[in-house]
Amino acid sequence: MKIIDATEDEKLNQQMAEILLDGFSDTGTQAWSTMEECEKEVADSLEEKKISRIAVNDEDEVLAWTIGEEIYTNYTWELALLVVRRNVKAKGIGRKTLKDFEEQVLKRGGSVVFLGSDDENNRTSLGGIELYPNPLEHLANINNLGDHPYEFYQKCGYTITGVIPHANGFGKPDIWMTKQLLKK
Ligand SMILES: CC(C)(COP(=O)(O)OP(=O)(O)OC[C@H]1O[C@@H](n2cnc3c(N)ncnc32)[C@H](O)[C@@H]1OP(=O)(O)O)[C@@H](O)C(=O)NCCC(=O)NCCS
Repeated sequence: MKIIDATEDEKLNQQMAEILLDGFSDTGTQAWSTMEECEKEVADSLEEKKISRIAVNDEDEVLAWTIGEEIYTNYTWELALLVVRRNVKAKGIGRKTLKDFEEQVLKRGGSVVFLGSDDENNRTSLGGIELYPNPLEHLANINNLGDHPYEFYQKCGYTITGVIPHANGFGKPDIWMTKQLLKK
């Protein structure tokens, strides 16, 4: 497997859109729910200022995809997307692709990665309930009820540093996580 910059390439771009459409189909999100939206995400990710990286095997199959954008100049990049093809999950590809993303951030002079991981279908103890007036208390006692990816990120060195209660409607919070790549 190699991890490369995504570029305009009909066959690879088509697969990127396909794994995006499929990857979030069971997360309860309304985002990326049509092929058109996913194709637009592919095209937008190819902008010069973004990171768009794909993991590809010897058969030119796209196995994973990351997108990132600088959100605090010279310091912090948002990991806007990480998706692994469904039939190759749980083989360490997510971890490797995320590591590659972090290396890309460092190469561009960044030192912090931020990401928001939504819970739109009660996959954590933060879903489906009122988090006010003490969201941080709920955050401190978070439980994973249904394979929510926050634990994947924790295993990759990320810390939960915030939450937006009801970010996607009542009981559908966005869990914020960050990783300090370098002290700067
Ligand atoms: C989340 C995702 C990127 C993980 O990729 P992956 O290739 O399956 O993960 P890896 O095999 O690299 O796993 C690394 C570690 O995290 C753990 N892990 C992976 N997914 C996990 C989950 N959902 N919950 C808890 N732990 C998880 C693995 O067990 C492994 O642990 P180990 O090192 O102790 O063996 C992948 O499942 C995916 O694309 N999901 C759909 C899209 C998505 O949710 N993206 C993230 C949105 S914020």
